[in-house]
Amino acid sequence: MTPARLTALLCATFVSACGSSTPATTFHKDIAPIVQAQCVGCHRAGGIAPFSLDTYASAKPMAAAMAASVASKRMPPWLASSSCGTPFVDERVLTAEQIAAFDAWAKGGALEGNPADAPKSTTTGAQGLSRVDATLAMPAPYTPSETLRDDYRCFIVDPAVTKSTIVTGYDIVPGSQKVVHHVILYAVKRTVAVAEDAKDAKAGWECFGGVGIDSVGALGAWAPGGSAVVYPFGTGIRIEPDQVLAMQVHYNTDNAREADQTSVKLQYGVGGETAAYLLPLAADRFRIPPGAVDYKYSERFDNTLGFPLKVWGFLPHMHTLGKTITMKAGSTSMNTCLVDIPRWDFHWQTQYFRPKALTLGMNEGIEMTCTWDNPTTRTITWGEGTSDEMCFAFVYATP
Ligand code: HEC
Repeated sequence: MTPARLTALLCATFVSACGSSTPATTFHKDIAPIVQAQCVGCHRAGGIAPFSLDTYASAKPMAAAMAASVASKRMPPWLASSSCGTPFVDERVLTAEQIAAFDAWAKGGALEGNPADAPKSTTTGAQGLSRVDATLAMPAPYTPSETLRDDYRCFIVDPAVTKSTIVTGYDIVPGSQKVVHHVILYAVKRTVAVAEDAKDAKAGWECFGGVGIDSVGALGAWAPGGSAVVYPFGTGIRIEPDQVLAMQVHYNTDNAREADQTSVKLQYGVGGETAAYLLPLAADRFRIPPGAVDYKYSERFDNTLGFPLKVWGFLPHMHTLGKTITMKAGSTSMNTCLVDIPRWDFHWQTQYFRPKALTLGMNEGIEMTCTWDNPTTRTITWGEGTSDEMCFAFVYATP
């Protein structure tokens, strides 16, 4: 039993055991600072969680559930192991003391305390954009195809920038969480995208496995569990006036078939930022035999760009049979851990950023290793469908 919990129990049992040196755990003093930093990014009105935790009134009835969810580490959701390299930016990991505070608060009667003790409120939570320069939605609601189980559709969203602009952050807001499986934004030439869109009367175009037309590069991505992304300070992805964004939405209709109108908020740089790339790494030559357990596959990607690359962040991606995914860097031996996900969960995908970039030299590479179980009776290979698998990552890097 942790000391804080012991104190709370003693306090509850023998009031005399609680001297003035052990003040009661209260919402405003002890819980609100943690909740604002680690929970309200999702648990707020319009957030992806089903209920808010941003006020005492909304949190109080959830006190026991909150304590249980943090004790079991279901919440806050965070897949990356903390024993791989230095801590990531905005790591959603609670300390043992913070977990104990939730327990003490719930057991002590979920007291409110003094509102004057509350931290100064931030409206968006830790992961929000500091400024929204453009909000762009799909031109019209789209209902996924009647005949396809996995419908990949690309839509034009046009930021209509009038000069070369660096996007320093984005927040993709899925219109329907029931059907949107993932979203990827690509920068493409406006003329090419408009011509592709005009080929049939329906909004957008079918784009299985990519954007289906020449793309300048990826700009960002959303998958379940993702929240707003702010790129490392002083960096971002460049878009030009003759480009639009092609928003690839993967609709999966296993659970529902309803209309969706996904939107994206963009935050632009103030000038002087370095343009970054989102490099796609696809370890795609695996064949997972039927019935396999812990089937493992690795692929190495060498830095063939001809210059050292500064590597900042990673968005690892697998489908639902994935168990682990690990990325390491090095030359002959892969001895720098980039990101390690020891228990993959399809529902909690996000980008992981390092506070300082790691330099990938010209003779170095990145090795990506994935493991899966295959409970089905067919061999599973790389594919975009939800019943196919992936061992994929975007790497955020600057020259
Ligand atoms: C990245 C988004 C996100 C963050 C951050 C987050 N939650 Fe959640 N939470 C969710 C979603 C979505 C659900 C509902 C679906 C589920 O249970 O997986 C949920 C469910 C819950 C539940 C009810 C189900 C359960 O597992 O007990 C509790 C309680 C909870 N969250 C507490 C918290 C607390 C406390 C924090 C901060 C310490 C937190 N959450 C941070 C997204 C989040």
